[in-house]
Amino acid sequence: MMHEQLADIVAERFVTRPPELQIDLTPGLQREETILETRGLSVWYGGFQALRDISLAVPGRRITAIIGPSGCGKSTLIRCFNRMNDLIPGFRVEGELLFEGRNIYGRGIDPVDVRRRIGMVFQKPNPFPKSVYENVAFGARVNGYVGKLSEIVERALRRAALWDEVKDKLRQNALALSGGQQQRLCIARALAIEPEVILMDEPCSALDPVATLKIEDLMRELAERYAIVIVTHNMQQAARVADYSAVMMMAEDRAGEMIEFGPTRQVFTTPKEKRTEDYITGRFG
Ligand SMILES: Nc1ncnc2c1ncn2[C@@H]1O[C@H](COP(=O)(O)OP(=O)(O)OP(=O)(O)O)[C@@H](O)[C@H]1O
Ligand SMILES: [Mg+2]
Repeated sequence: MMHEQLADIVAERFVTRPPELQIDLTPGLQREETILETRGLSVWYGGFQALRDISLAVPGRRITAIIGPSGCGKSTLIRCFNRMNDLIPGFRVEGELLFEGRNIYGRGIDPVDVRRRIGMVFQKPNPFPKSVYENVAFGARVNGYVGKLSEIVERALRRAALWDEVKDKLRQNALALSGGQQQRLCIARALAIEPEVILMDEPCSALDPVATLKIEDLMRELAERYAIVIVTHNMQQAARVADYSAVMMMAEDRAGEMIEFGPTRQVFTTPKEKRTEDYITGRFG
């Protein structure tokens, strides 16, 4: 993939976006809208330091991509955002991870509450071996929803751009859906919990190009309402969907560091770091 082609993708996207969406790409507004923020975040698995001194502000109602070579700590970082790493033996954090200004690793914070407000979609679609309906209703029940379940199920499936394809199959087993449908079902399940942020760790890597584009369209729609953080290995995908991009690399001791963060257009067309350019043009990693 040539650099110029990536630049074209970025340029085209920003030209064709409605003007009201372009206004917010100024750095000043980004800070005002921060919903999630790491300040000097370091992470260890036992004696191994996986992340060093990551400071990153995630804006609300925008898509932030985390990119970088395998093993640089992307999954570790995104999993910190909703405390998914808690159960790993030897896992330890230093620094702060603020969600709406509160440190989610601080005292008195309930990780279950964090996970309810910050949902996650995984690399491989992982629906429960239950009906389409039950998969989404599960999310609603976790949220303590007591009203009419069928309404919240329909709403979540509509938001996940899946309703038309499954409205006649609600009682069928979710595992009978296609991979792309299963992934949108997992997104619907996450939405039914009514989160404020949606984390996605390589959500399209198990999908074909058509299903991938559908998920990307969906992400752009969801970003009207939610903050989205996505890990992706696919540079075109980052160029197509992300408003902001964070570039991570491994230091000599293999600890992950963030070497660059900014509007995707800037990161992909005029990166500050030579290493960023080498990575996105395929000369590295
Ligand atoms: N549960 C764990 N226990 C110990 N070390 C771990 C654990 N999970 C990840 N690591 C280590 O932390 C580092 C970062 O891993 P991580 O999975 O975050 O990288 P990544 O950037 O997501 O890579 P990939 O692109 O291959 O998914 C790696 O060196 C990995 O071996
Ligand atoms: Mg990973």
